[in-house]
Amino acid sequence: MEFDLRDKVAVVTGGSRGIGKAIAQAFLEAGASVMLVSRKAEVLEAVQREFAERFGDDRVASVAGNVGDESVPGEVVAETLRRYSAVDILVNNAGTNPHYGSLLTITTSQIDKIFDVNVRAVMLWTQAVWSQYWSVNTDARGSVINLASIGGLSVDRNIAMYNVSKAAVIHLTKQLAPELGPNVRVNTISPGLVKTDMARALWEGREDEIAHNFPLRRLGEPSDIGDLAVFLASDRASWITGSNFVADGGALVS
Ligand SMILES: NC(=O)c1ccc[n+]([C@@H]2O[C@H](COP(=O)([O-])OP(=O)(O)OC[C@H]3O[C@@H](n4cnc5c(N)ncnc54)[C@H](OP(=O)(O)O)[C@@H]3O)[C@@H](O)[C@H]2O)c1
Repeated sequence: MEFDLRDKVAVVTGGSRGIGKAIAQAFLEAGASVMLVSRKAEVLEAVQREFAERFGDDRVASVAGNVGDESVPGEVVAETLRRYSAVDILVNNAGTNPHYGSLLTITTSQIDKIFDVNVRAVMLWTQAVWSQYWSVNTDARGSVINLASIGGLSVDRNIAMYNVSKAAVIHLTKQLAPELGPNVRVNTISPGLVKTDMARALWEGREDEIAHNFPLRRLGEPSDIGDLAVFLASDRASWITGSNFVADGGALVS
């Protein structure tokens, strides 16, 4: 049986490419309406047009902004409510890693950027939906999906602070689950290596070599994560909260 998101409204941060775009597309295919957020307005508007042609003008909207800016979550949630009168699903997907290399060379501005976008924004966006919608509509059911990483469960010397931030996302999700229940569920997805721009330096030109070590012998496609997000957003996951879902082709057990 298909997972059904008809009549649900989702906000997806980082929805203009990669995993966020695939999650938005999977939600649209399952019947949801989607509000997309990312920084580059032109790219975002092009994705909005692409989705509008396939799914209808009324099913997709966008607001350009930096997820880490304090005012942006409140503005986007207000615009989503003005347009769709609900927010049922929040996907905190936008993420960044401005530093590659030893922890001993990372700068304070790089540390701040990693934590502002990867961790603090998860709080700001969750608080914005909570304060404007879930806390005032006590019958409303919700699902928050936070993008972590298998890096949050393992050690890699080259992307260490990013991994620390993703471990924080996994734990923040556990802390939020009892606060948001019983009507709002909150879970993390921890992808392995997925073929997107963000991870390009890790896989381009080496796909077969890397995939050979994975039990499922391939790298992730953004749609692999979209499918899992649809399940977690749907009522089929109605007894699941505070959990972390690994989707990595078996990388962690290779
Ligand atoms: N790809 C992987 O292998 C992998 C593995 C594990 C976890 N993840 C996680 O999955 C999530 C998505 O990653 P991805 O690989 O799809 O990345 P991506 O291809 O680089 O896409 C990132 C998206 O987020 C937006 N974005 C980045 N920083 C932003 C900010 N400060 N404010 C608003 N939007 C912002 C980007 O658009 P703009 O640049 O226009 O803002 C883009 O839409 C991230 O949280 C990442 O850490 C990825």
